[in-house]
Amino acid sequence: MNFTGSHILSIQQFQRADIERVFEVADSMAPYALRRKVTRVLEGAILGNMFFEPSTRTRISFGCAFNLLGGEVRETTGFESSALAKGESLHDTARVLSGFSDVICMRHPDSGSVAEFAEASRVPVINGGDGANEHPSQALLDLYTIRKELGSKGRGIDGLRIAMIGDLKYGRTVHSLCKLLCLFENIQVTLVSPPELAMPEPIVEEMRAVGHSVSITEDLPQSISRVDIAYSTRIQEERFASQEEADIYRGRFRLNQAIYTQYCEPNTVIMHPLPRDSRANANELDNDLNQNPNLAIFRQTDNGVLVRMALFSLVLDVVDQVHKEARDVNWYNSLRTL
Ligand code: CP
Repeated sequence: MNFTGSHILSIQQFQRADIERVFEVADSMAPYALRRKVTRVLEGAILGNMFFEPSTRTRISFGCAFNLLGGEVRETTGFESSALAKGESLHDTARVLSGFSDVICMRHPDSGSVAEFAEASRVPVINGGDGANEHPSQALLDLYTIRKELGSKGRGIDGLRIAMIGDLKYGRTVHSLCKLLCLFENIQVTLVSPPELAMPEPIVEEMRAVGHSVSITEDLPQSISRVDIAYSTRIQEERFASQEEADIYRGRFRLNQAIYTQYCEPNTVIMHPLPRDSRANANELDNDLNQNPNLAIFRQTDNGVLVRMALFSLVLDVVDQVHKEARDVNWYNSLRTL
């Protein structure tokens, strides 16, 4: 894949070598993400950060990643504060905003909307989540996290055993992650959901077609008993017709320390794209796991900055210049590790 000037819309654009390139560049971003060094390589560049659906992590980490490379961020959040609320089309919005920006990140509630926007954009567009369809940068940061977590145990991604738990129908992060895992060898995937919230069949077929072992179950204890990664997801209440319908499924698959201790192999890594729903009737990942060293959820969010810095550097073709522009930071820096 030629990253320069490309839109990043779907994980299906990537080959395995592209993923390795993203991860290699992400590794090199650590001194900046850790606030040990500063680079101004994107000085003068502007990110248009367009989030038409709620977000904490994706919006802020794309913004931070761009700032850490020296660029500026302009953003809009929600329909009500944009001219989309006055009937403006995605085409016109894209023509306008791409005149103001060097790259655009966008989240929108409709599947396919970011691709439609990208068709009219004059600058690269990165998909920050389009409805229940895809969330490619999340899948990249998830796999980057898996690579680091397993790498510390002398393991690679090939041969991974992973359980994906929760709302697999509407959860775009697991859709993108499954597609990404199709680039690797001999993956064992256990899909844990109510039948009504099952992984879409085309994605299951895609994984089976490349030879992965896919099992489908509602049995949480059995599914997490022999995996490297237990990847939990939230019931995507915003995709349901009503809160009452979402309530039927909320809290169905809860993981807490007692369940972890009883059923998981030692050092099973716990992941979640976040936000986890911590309300009492949901609580898919209990707070009593917070001290568990295998809870990787905040390492995932830290890794998101590295991966998004890598995407910007590749798409804007500055990878070779990032370090030439670097200097040590001036300010006191609490010791941080990733
Ligand atoms: N993981 C994720 O997409 O989080 P946000 O909704 O907070 O961006």
